[in-house]
Amino acid sequence: MPEPVFLNQPAPEPVAQSSRVLPDLRAVDRSEELQSKSLGGSTAPALRTFTISTRLRGRSLVEDVDIAPDEILDLLDTAGRLKRMHHRGEPHTYLPGKTLGMIFQHPSTRTRVSFEAGMAQLGGTAVYLGVNDLQLKRGETVADTAQVLGRYVDAIVARVVRHEHIVELAQFAGVPVINGLSDRNHPTQALADLQTLQERFGSLKGLNLVYFGDGNNVAVSLLLAGAATGVNVTVACPVGYQPPADIVTQANWLAAASGATVTVTDDAEAAAEQADAIYTDVHVSMGQDDSAARAVALAPYKVTRRLMSLAKPEAIFMHCLPMHRDEEVEAAVVDGPQSVVFDQAENRLHAHKALLLQMLC
Ligand code: CP
Ligand code: NVA
Repeated sequence: MPEPVFLNQPAPEPVAQSSRVLPDLRAVDRSEELQSKSLGGSTAPALRTFTISTRLRGRSLVEDVDIAPDEILDLLDTAGRLKRMHHRGEPHTYLPGKTLGMIFQHPSTRTRVSFEAGMAQLGGTAVYLGVNDLQLKRGETVADTAQVLGRYVDAIVARVVRHEHIVELAQFAGVPVINGLSDRNHPTQALADLQTLQERFGSLKGLNLVYFGDGNNVAVSLLLAGAATGVNVTVACPVGYQPPADIVTQANWLAAASGATVTVTDDAEAAAEQADAIYTDVHVSMGQDDSAARAVALAPYKVTRRLMSLAKPEAIFMHCLPMHRDEEVEAAVVDGPQSVVFDQAENRLHAHKALLLQMLC
């Protein structure tokens, strides 16, 4: 009877081929054993006690300001602990029996897969609902969809074409709703980005984060989440592409409370000086169709090696992805040693798991 092999244990070293061609050595041929793996049959793995704040239980994240500054820091702490457990292979299936509904009206690689994989890693289930999967496509209202889904699932993440739809979903679902990107903001992206900054620099307070390009959904969330947590946020963009005025006002209020600063400027070179992190996003976002005019207006805000050289020597380069190499950023920058773009992408997983855990605990 072969020894059982349990999951999460390193596989045994393969038997050297030479033992089979030299019969005199009488080595034991374990090939049959190595080809089998006993699954199940044991009790469920014990889960480590994991203490979290219940302040987000039952709440939604639609606007960045739905989560208070100390709650953001708390989430980052949870995300960091979940990340370490995940890397150590420790089971953390704290949400068995819970279901996440995932409404996506635009394509997604990171947001979709990190929420779906994250829910599985937490012991729950995710149901992906693309544009062709719901009666929304045939005119069922957002409010009716929300009320129905809210009776099946424990939380909803939604990527919507129009921000008002995520607001309406949250209003009618009766379960937590997470904004997985709208034309106004991208709050889960900002959470993962703050986690990346914290990992790189130890703390957020006083960091200089400079965003170049379109004052779009990603810029909005960086402004609000950054200002809330003490990060000095600058947006360098041409006139006509600034973040909405009400967002800048809101960010200024948050910055006043955290001791940070908020700056919107059209002077790219001046903005880069003293930056700890330089960030950019695509010049044409999903759903925008004025690409020719954007390309011309935003070209001077492309992140180049020269721009990076004006920042602090230890500055990092950030991008939410997907990117267009040599359009909003030089390939040499995004593929160079200062780039942390794949750490940001990874942290989507851990930040989302933290959100789900704290909302559904
Ligand atoms: N950054 C981000 O949201 O990527 P996806 O569009 O792939 O989800
Ligand atoms: N601003 C981009 C972000 C993609 C993650 C868009 O909305 O397309």
